[in-house]
This record gives sequence, structure tokens and C-alpha cells, in this order.
Amino acid sequence: MKKKLNILVIGSGAREHAICWSLSRAKKTNELFCIPGNAGISQIAKCKEIDPNDKKDILNFCKEKKIDLVVIGPEEYLANGLSDFLIKNKINTFGPSKKASKLESSKSFAKKFLIKNKIPTPVHKEFKSFIEAKRFLKKSKFPLVIKADGLASGKGVIICQKLSEGVSTLDEILKKKKFGDAGKKIIIEEFIEGYEISFFAFFDKKSFLPLGYALDHKKAYENDIGPNTGGMGCFTPSRLVNKRLVEKIYQNIVKKTFHGLKKDKIIYRGIIFFGLMIKNNMPFVIEYNVRFGDPECQTLLRDLKTDLLDIFLATTEDSLSRIKISKYNMKIVCVVLASLGYPENYKKNKLLNNLNKAKKQKNIEIFHAGTKLVKNKFYSNGGRVLSVTAKSTTIESARKIAYKTIKIINWKSGFFRKDIGIKNK
Ligand code: AMP
Ligand code: GLY
Repeated sequence: MKKKLNILVIGSGAREHAICWSLSRAKKTNELFCIPGNAGISQIAKCKEIDPNDKKDILNFCKEKKIDLVVIGPEEYLANGLSDFLIKNKINTFGPSKKASKLESSKSFAKKFLIKNKIPTPVHKEFKSFIEAKRFLKKSKFPLVIKADGLASGKGVIICQKLSEGVSTLDEILKKKKFGDAGKKIIIEEFIEGYEISFFAFFDKKSFLPLGYALDHKKAYENDIGPNTGGMGCFTPSRLVNKRLVEKIYQNIVKKTFHGLKKDKIIYRGIIFFGLMIKNNMPFVIEYNVRFGDPECQTLLRDLKTDLLDIFLATTEDSLSRIKISKYNMKIVCVVLASLGYPENYKKNKLLNNLNKAKKQKNIEIFHAGTKLVKNKFYSNGGRVLSVTAKSTTIESARKIAYKTIKIINWKSGFFRKDIGIKNK
């Protein structure tokens, strides 16, 4: 039997809490650490305040704690080359290289990759010049989508309904530099009318392994209105997603992505999150992400039976082909509790009173995002605060359990969407 392993998870969201929760149940886990973590994570892993952009500090921590595997959650650190740096220093790491991360950190790179590999994606054009982009808009049909090329904390995609909106968006990005260097280049893309799913697959040098999909709710308020957020809730599975669609995603998107990476000699060891728009049962890639989604991760990991650590290790050892994904085949609903005012201005340091009672509910896991502990009490410390995930035999009953738990939490300084899982119908 292989020795037990010390593991370090990087990140501080509910996604990383779910990863730690899953790893804390894995057979081969010895000590579990998280940098920087949050109050929820600190209940199951040892948290340490280190800036993950400080690669040397991370490496020193790995050496001191004899870390056998690092799992990197957020895209920022992947795009910053943390995985490359740790691997070069002989620390086994789950998460793609800086080069492979360009699938997310440059929309222009991703588009070129998609087109070269004949992967279905909306028609687009790239611009650096305001004048040329404006000229193009004048002869285009609306709605259309304008995207900043680089990472913009989920805010770099703007759907424009008419020419005046398009021109003011160009002005904000290309002239006023709203997104700084991330907006030096833009993509103008065809608007696809349909519904969105987040599809996930693990990749290593030799093979890939689909994990599943979830439906996210990106808008802040019910009926998909209000500003875009990181995600206000998720569910899986959906009646909308049939076997034929999953087969198309597998053949036309996941498989072609794997072969495309191989052709370009890009070694990808990690997970790919395919942001897909589905129109007439046909999937189109609207974005690649080089990480788990949040709250998709909290949703999918609750149904995963296979040992997550085994999957991570197989990914880093190029032996994914030996892993079979097995699931409980339950229905999962995840509702995000956010601070009032999120995603714009919100207050922190608000007491969360009833968490201990709430987490005793059956079939519930509460994953923390922006929380901190002060004198043994939980306080809010960010925009998205909790991911309340419920598991049941139907989406409807999972919804009931999740919302009952939120009622118990009874947090007056927060809000949540009441319609998570409704669009399953
Ligand atoms: P992203 O930040 O890339 O996830 O995009 C934000 C949101 O914009 C997505 O979740 C979609 O709802 C929407 N979106 C992006 N690209 C398109 C497109 N080509 N057609 C329709 N909606 C899109
Ligand atoms: N929930 C969408 C994301 O993680 O980007």
C-alpha cells in the first residue's frame, strides 16, 4: 500500500472548501493544508495566510510541510505560472501550466485554438483599434457580445443589445482601459440564443476523463436579471441535457480539444471547464476555463463516488485512463448565499449565527467562501459567503432541503436566488 500523502489546496472559495471536503474523505490523505483558506475550510484543513502569488513562499511551505501534492483552485495563480514553478521544483501539482492556461487567460488564443481544431464556437472577429471595431459594429446585427481578451474577474463579457451600447462598451474597454491590459484586445462575437451548461473533464498527457456537467445561474437576481456574478447557484443533472447532446459534447468538443492540445504539444494536467451554449441541441464553446467552476465544483463533488485524490494523482502521473468515474446518481442543488449588494458594494463582518444548527440538516453540506472566525463565531468576509448544497432523489426535493437550510441560517445581511433548479423543467 502506498504511503499517505500531505496535500495543499490553494484558494479561498467555496470551491476550495468542496475540494478540501472531498480530499478529507480520501483514503490516502494524511495532512490537509489550505492557503489561504477560510473559516469553513479551517474546520477540516490547516489554513495558512500566504499570498499564492508569492511562489517562493509557497515552495518553502511545501518543503517545510513535506507536501506530496498541490491542488491549485483559481485561474489567477495558474495564469501566473504557479504550477510550472512548483513542478520545476519537484512538487507534484494538479493544475495546468501557464502556457496551457492561455485557454482561459486569452480569449484570442482560445478562439484560434477552437477554429483550428474545428470545434463549434460562435463566429467572431478580433480588434485592437477602436475605429475599426466601431466600423465593424455599424454593419453588424444585434445583439452581439463583446469580450475583453484577458482575465477580468468574470466581468469582461458584455452582451450588447444595440449599436449605442456596443460603441460605449468599446469606449470603456479600448479607450478608457476599464480592464487595463486585459482589454488591449477585444473579441466581437455572434450572440447565441440558447441555454448554458458548464461541462467538466480531467485531462492528462495521454487521455481525458469526463466528470459531468452543471447548470449555473450567473445573474444576481431571479429570472436571470441583474448584474453578472461568479455564480449564484447550480444544479445537476438537468432534463434538458439528453444522451445525444452529451455524446456531441464528447465527440465534437472534449475529444477534439484533447487532440488539439496534443497537436500543439501542450501538455495539460488538470481539469477543463467548457462553458457551452446549447442551441437546438447543438453545443457551442463560448469559453474555456482551466479550473473547476464555482459553484459547479460544490455541486459535482457531492455526487462523486470515485476518490478525488486518486483522480488528482492519476492526472499528475498521466494515468487517467486507469480511473473510472462512479457517482451516487443523486440530484444536487447548490444555492449561494451572498452579502447584500454583491456583486457591487457590500458590507463585511456580519455575524452568521445559525450555521451549527443548519449544517446538522440531513443531506446538506455548507461550503464556505467569504467567511472568517472571530472568537469561535462565524462572520462574513466577502461577496459570496456560503454555498448551501443539498442532495436528494429529485431536483425538487433537493431544492426544498437547500431552501429550508437557508431559512434556518436566517441571515439578514445576505440574499440568495429563489429559483435555482427551476429551469430544469
Ligand atoms: P463568460 O464570462 O465568458 O462566462 O461570459 C459571461 C456570460 O455571457 C456567459 O455566462 C453567457 O451567459 C454570456 N455569453 C458569453 N458569450 C456568449 C455568446 N456568444 N452568446 C450568448 N451569450 C454569451
Ligand atoms: N461559475 C462560473 C465560474 O466559475 O466561472
